[in-house]
Formats: sequence, structure tokens, C-alpha cells
Amino acid sequence: MYDIAVIGGGPGGYASALYAHNFGLSVALIEKDRVGGTCLLRGCIPAKALIESGHVFHTVQTASEFGVTTSDPTFEWPVAMERKTKVVEGLVNGLSGVLKTRGVETINGFGSIAGPGKVTVTHDDGSTSEVEARNIIVATGSAPSSIPGYDPNGETIVTSDEALEWETKPERVAIIGAGVIGCEFASFLADVGSEVHLFEVQDQLVPGLEPEAAKVLSRAFRRKKVNMHLGVGVGAPEITDDGVVVPFGDDSVTVDVVLVAVGRKPMTDTINLDAVDVPTDRGYISVDRATMQTSADGIYAVGDIVAGTPQLAHVAFAEAIAAVTHIATGENAAVDYNAIPMVVYTNPEVAWVGRTESQAVADGYEVEVHEHGMRGVGRAIIQGETGGTVKVVVEQGGQILGASVVGPGAGEMIHELMYLVGFEALPEDAAAFIHAHPTISEAIGETLLTSAGRSLH
Ligand code: NAI
Repeated sequence: MYDIAVIGGGPGGYASALYAHNFGLSVALIEKDRVGGTCLLRGCIPAKALIESGHVFHTVQTASEFGVTTSDPTFEWPVAMERKTKVVEGLVNGLSGVLKTRGVETINGFGSIAGPGKVTVTHDDGSTSEVEARNIIVATGSAPSSIPGYDPNGETIVTSDEALEWETKPERVAIIGAGVIGCEFASFLADVGSEVHLFEVQDQLVPGLEPEAAKVLSRAFRRKKVNMHLGVGVGAPEITDDGVVVPFGDDSVTVDVVLVAVGRKPMTDTINLDAVDVPTDRGYISVDRATMQTSADGIYAVGDIVAGTPQLAHVAFAEAIAAVTHIATGENAAVDYNAIPMVVYTNPEVAWVGRTESQAVADGYEVEVHEHGMRGVGRAIIQGETGGTVKVVVEQGGQILGASVVGPGAGEMIHELMYLVGFEALPEDAAAFIHAHPTISEAIGETLLTSAGRSLH
């Protein structure tokens, strides 16, 4: 009898298994594939490895501005793919090693719930075994969704799963959905010279992002020659000898491949949650947000399958900590969903935390907003990347409610704002600290100073 049986070895599941070590709990981690989940095998890590190759290519292409002369650079797609695979393999092997060192028993097979404290594992050869545990953490993750007419066929209509394995660079691509995945692929593919058409039903890139930040990203995409079709739906595609015809409005584009990036759906329908009377809503599981426990005692859910929380690896890590802490100690280690950093790894990067201006207003706050561009920021000028901006949303006479950053290193810089939002800091307290000069982060310092009613530059 284990203390915990974890179903699913992605960020939610493997983090649960690893964290249990802090309390000396015994864990069985049931995974049908290799450990790592979407993030490590088919998501964050391989995507960012490719994006990094795109950044390097872009840097070399613009090197002459910095006095560095190169011969005409070429992007070797297979080499970038090989590097991406190496990065993934290194991390998967490292993770397997750490799980072993921590005494986690990893069981290969498909886990489904047989009853309270009981999981049936179906192995690749069809045999089954039973795992008994005092608690079960469900962490089965998500899979790409699609839209009518765009069922992925692995070749001409694909999801990010297949796109991360493309053997050659697609010359003409239509991306359906300008959310996080759509924008990251659009940015990368345009950087390496593909013709990109990006379709989004809403009227801005990354709907939900501060409109000012989305505008800065749009400007950067326009410079990269991404063809943006915002506020339009696409009709059913037609596969012809010349490629896939994607109709929209009165027009159409013909491309080699369509990447569907319209969100992800939870994978909970085949794990027999009925056996423990845990209901789902469109596949999502509701939990007590303080403990991650479902409506059934001893059954927890973490990661992409949790109702109403962002589908992000770092959220899954934090939810795993909350679930395991509750199992081990009965205490709460609730995730602060108000201060989750979000990063879109486009070039330039986009990041935000806390409430946007419109969310804050919708939540009943009287707000003021302060912005600072990067045009006059010394380090941004040095790096040749002055298109960025910082925006801070402040409650009138009160705390910092949210912030967004676009620009080089935004995904790193957002963390100082994360603390300010998380600690409900006042602008005047935050503005009392100084930023090193010259750094891009000075743009944040300037915005905080303005938020405190003063300004310097
Ligand atoms: P998403 O929800 O971010 O974006 C999907 C987009 O598709 C939305 O903007 C939506 O309006 C649009 N859309 C839906 N139907 C459409 C249609 N018929 N035509 C045109 N547009 C349509 O989902 P995405 O990008 O697929 O990402 C899935 C999940 O993975 C997200 O929850 C995201 O947070 C996570 N993720 C996070 C990353 C990061 O943190 N950097 C990277 C990649 C994924």
C-alpha cells in the first residue's frame, strides 16, 4: 500500500511524486509513455528549444549592425530539430534519474481508477496490475483541441504535437488560433523564413493580454511579415494538389500545412472517475482550490485537468505542492492564482501577471495605469530592441494589481512584478528600490516611479 498513487507523469504528476519525498511518503507514479508529459515531451521544452534556434538565427542575421560580419547565414532545420531532441532527451533522462533517487516507483502503463484507493494499470502487453494507495492524485493532462473541418491528419492538418516533429521547414503555413501556441509558432516560423498566415477569431493577438502589449506584438509580427487575419473565422479547408486552401471571408490562402492551435482539452474521459463519483464538466475536474482535493476524500486533481485554472506547467507544479502538502500534513499550501506569471515566448517576449486593466475594472477596482516604453532605455538601445513596453495597473490609492511587459527578457523580468502583485505592494514602496543601470528592467523602475506619482526620465 503506497501513500500516494499518481496517475500521469507530466509536470503535475512528476512534481507530486518528487515533492512527496519531503515528507517521506511512498509514491507509485503511473505513466503510459515516458515521464515528462506535454511540457517536456511535446510542449514547453521542445518548443522553446526551437524558438531559441530561431532567436540565434535572427541575431546572426542582424549581426552586421553590431559590427560583426558573417557570410549569409542559413537555418539548418534538421540541426535545430536534432538539438531540440537532445535538449528533451537530456531533461527526460535527468527527470527519470531524480525520480529514481527519490525512491519513486514509476510504473509503465495506463492507469484508471478501480475504486477508492485502487488504480488498475494496463500494461503495453495487455496485462493488468493493481496499485493500492491511501490517496490518488489525478494528473492526466490535456491534448490539443480542434475545430470542425480541421481534424488533424498528421500531415497537412496538424497540431503542435506533430509540428514539433516536422522533418523539414514548412514553406507556407496557416496557423488557426493566435493564442499562446499560435503566436509562438508564428514568431518562430517567420524568424526562420516561412510564409505565415495567422488566423484569430478575436480581434487581437493573445486574447486576454493587455491590448497595448498585443499591439506591440502585432507591430513586431508585421515587421516579420506575419500575415495576421484577426477577427475572422476560417471555413472548411480544401486539400488540393497545390496545398491546403483555407477560406476566410471572401478570400482564401493556399498553404502547405495548417497548424491548429485553438486550445487544449482535458484527458479525463477514460480513467473511470465514476468509480469514485468524481464528476467532470466538459472533462474538467472541480477541486477545493486550497487543497486540490476533489469532491471525493483522498482523490486529488492537479494540472491541465483542473477546472478554471490556467493550463501551465508552473501552475501544475504549484498545485502538486498544494495536494501533497495537504495529504502529508493536512495543512493548506494554496496556489495564489492572482500572481501567476504568464509568458509567451515570441520574439519579442510577452509576459504578464495579475489583473489586466479591464479585469481589474470588471472586479470593481477603480484603477490607474502607468506605462513606459523602451525607446529611451539605454540597455534596450544598446541591444537594438526598443519596441517594448511596460504597463502597471494600480488600484487608485492602493496596491499594484497587475502588470505586463513586452520586450527582450520579458519572461524573466515579469518575476519582479510577480512579487509586487503577490505581496500586494504599494507603488510608493516598490518605487523606493533602485534598478541597476543600464538594464532593461529600468523600464519597470520608471513605471513604478510614475505609479508612485513621480517620474525621473
Ligand atoms: P489558447 O487558448 O491560448 O489560444 C487559442 C486561440 O484560438 C484563442 O485565441 C482563440 O480565440 C482562438 N480560436 C479558437 N477557435 C478559433 C477558430 N475557429 N479560428 C480562429 N481562432 C480560433 O490555446 P493554445 O494556444 O492552443 O494553447 C493551449 C494551452 O497551452 C494554453 O492554455 C496555454 O496557456 C498553454 N501553453 C502555454 C505556453 C506558455 O506558457 N508559453 C506555451 C504553449 C501553450
